[in-house]
Amino acid sequence: MSKTIIISNRLPLQISIEDNNLEVTPSVGGLATGLKSFHRDGDSIWIGWTGLTEEEIPESLAQDVKKRALEEACVSVNLTAEEIEGFYYGFSNRTIWPLFHYFMEYTEAELSFWEIYKKVNQKYANEVLKHYQEGDQIWVHDYQLLLVPNMIREKAPEAIIGFFNHIPFPSYEVFRTLPWREEVLEGVLGADLIGFHTYDYERHFLSSVSRILRLQVDFNEVTLPNRIVKVDSFPMGIDYEKFEQAALNHFKNTSEEQSDLQNRLDHHLKTTPEAKLILSIDRLDYTKGIANRIRAFEYFLDRNPEYVEKVRLVMLAVPSRSNVPQYQRLKREIDELVGRINGKFSTVNWTPIWYFYRSMPFENLIDLYTSCDVALLTPIRDGMNLVAKEFIATRTYHTGVLILSEMAGASHEMNEAILINPNNFEQISSALKQALEMPKEEQIQRNKMLQKRLKRYSVEKWANDFIKALKNTKDNRNDSQ
Ligand code: UDP
Ligand code: G6P
Repeated sequence: MSKTIIISNRLPLQISIEDNNLEVTPSVGGLATGLKSFHRDGDSIWIGWTGLTEEEIPESLAQDVKKRALEEACVSVNLTAEEIEGFYYGFSNRTIWPLFHYFMEYTEAELSFWEIYKKVNQKYANEVLKHYQEGDQIWVHDYQLLLVPNMIREKAPEAIIGFFNHIPFPSYEVFRTLPWREEVLEGVLGADLIGFHTYDYERHFLSSVSRILRLQVDFNEVTLPNRIVKVDSFPMGIDYEKFEQAALNHFKNTSEEQSDLQNRLDHHLKTTPEAKLILSIDRLDYTKGIANRIRAFEYFLDRNPEYVEKVRLVMLAVPSRSNVPQYQRLKREIDELVGRINGKFSTVNWTPIWYFYRSMPFENLIDLYTSCDVALLTPIRDGMNLVAKEFIATRTYHTGVLILSEMAGASHEMNEAILINPNNFEQISSALKQALEMPKEEQIQRNKMLQKRLKRYSVEKWANDFIKALKNTKDNRNDSQ
């Protein structure tokens, strides 16, 4: 029977070693949280990295690591510390990530990163080939593995290969600055089907293909000498029922059953019943606009002093890629900003910002989603932003307001949210006021529409649509032979 082989840099489970024992935690980030339910429900294996370098795994535990991954139908790819440095922290996150998010000034064109990126992509492709049997579908994910589709194609020309890019694809004028632009495009074009979250990313990719490689592009098809590559947009959804159900269950919890975090949130709600909570959740990443958000919150409090002691920003920032200098700098900047603003506005009973710098288990995320009145998500650029969708899915009473950056892929499907330009403080400040003062009926009306759409375009539908379109590319190929 045929299976789907999923390949992404990071596996959905992360393994660490404490006192010679394996500790397993779920991975953070939209790719892993989204794709997990497709993997759980279907017939697939998932190839990727456990988060441990080869050097960190003692020989005595090497088999256990493999076995633990296999329990969840995952195959671990071994990467050395040097490979992680050049491939992951280097080319993936100091070259491609900033460039594709339009942070050109952060983009480093370093030949040694590129060389190691190629080598590691080949390692992933080889691992796939070990597990591939004719008839399987191969589904490669994201910017860390742009060369893998063609590397597989070279060894298995008949293979059915899909590629999905979870981050934006920048406009041609930005992409063309990459020294290895031809190789990157050729690598991706090894796939039969290439998917993006939005039509804009798809359009940017096609325009780069036609202008850089001078290939024929008709509507959404690229003609290669021996085959046709289809390019399409598939906006990724969430496991809607999981979030909705978790929120419903959450409200059934007795005070003994609920978490410490919920007790703290409840305390806040009891002691200041008229006060409102504003939520933000992101990985600590410069693309997420966290510093701008805090400054806009300060601007809001300066302009609307009647809200002092009446609102609190609950900010969860999950540590991410902390070996990359830009992330270290951002961490310092956020620490300083939070300190300064809390110092400036705090009163005896109130601090304006509650800042958590860690990842939280699913139950606590639900505590935050359900207890807050407004979600303030202001990325400067974001491929999709699943947090926006998760917040809406947990509004089981239909109240609550989402303020979302128009630069997030999710904004294309979430017109009923208050959409803002993340660089415009005044606009964010007035959006906050509008959200805090929005009549309940209007909140309910907006959320019901959003919920209906998100329920329909779930992550299950996203994955099924992609796989169906991928299988169809094979039919096209057979027809034309
Ligand atoms: N998330 C998580 N643990 C946390 C905070 C967030 O698992 O402590 C999840 C969150 O629920 C969401 C994902 O991380 O599913 C973030 O995805 P998003 O698309 O918003 O951004 P990305 O991190 O992929 O850029
Ligand atoms: C984004 C990327 C994913 C990545 C995730 C977390 O969602 O699209 O590919 O896995 O961020 O980042 P990390 O570098 O920790 O894997």
